[in-house]
Amino acid sequence: MERVQKVIANLGYASRRGAEELIKNGKVLINDEVASLGDKVSSSDVIKIDGVIIDKTKSNDKVYYLLNKPRFVVTTSKDELGRKTVVDLIDEDKRIYPVGRLDYDTTGVLLLTNDGELTNKLIHPKNKVEKVYLAKIKGIIKGVDINKLKNGVFVDNKKTSPCRVKLKSFDKKTNTSMVELTIHEGRNHQVKKMFEAINYDVIKLTRIRFANLDCKSLKSGEYRKLTPKEVKRLYNLGEDDA
Ligand code: URA
Repeated sequence: MERVQKVIANLGYASRRGAEELIKNGKVLINDEVASLGDKVSSSDVIKIDGVIIDKTKSNDKVYYLLNKPRFVVTTSKDELGRKTVVDLIDEDKRIYPVGRLDYDTTGVLLLTNDGELTNKLIHPKNKVEKVYLAKIKGIIKGVDINKLKNGVFVDNKKTSPCRVKLKSFDKKTNTSMVELTIHEGRNHQVKKMFEAINYDVIKLTRIRFANLDCKSLKSGEYRKLTPKEVKRLYNLGEDDA
């Protein structure tokens, strides 16, 4: 028999403290009864977190992190130039890697994991995973240019797919606009190149959402593990709640 928080942590579903929080918040069930801190379980007990049964038979060695990527960090596992990478920011012994890419100077939502199956699913174009970006651009963007972005512009000789574009604000004094773009493609430097195609420079770029994940609760450089429910939702994308 082992304490339930230890079982949850050992299987990689949360840190020990995270597991305690889940229990305190009533999110953990043992055989469909709400668990209390210190409850002991055996291998035959069914543990659920957020309604999802945890798999105790095969060791769950998959880990999932949500990072609020700061500027000037590279989105790779190892950088030839010795620059700091997103993986360096996360205290994890397992070999994790980023899901997709953000530029060196782009900030915001980035997922890291060692789950290849989920990664393939999230980056496969057919699943049309939404990414929302907030771009600060030079100039006051015209309505006609917003429509061009919405309908698709030529990037590397290929038209981008229709996307959603919202002018969030503009500032005549600094001659800048804040524009939100929701895209589902993931081409290299796509957002910057879309603006370049209509002759605007991007001054700052941040990803504010990836699929259903945002990092409003995380300061720049902070990260957290995904909950089992969040992982499940990502797996379900393209099926019941894309
Ligand atoms: N588009 C870009 O131009 N850069 C990013 O980092 C992400 C999307």
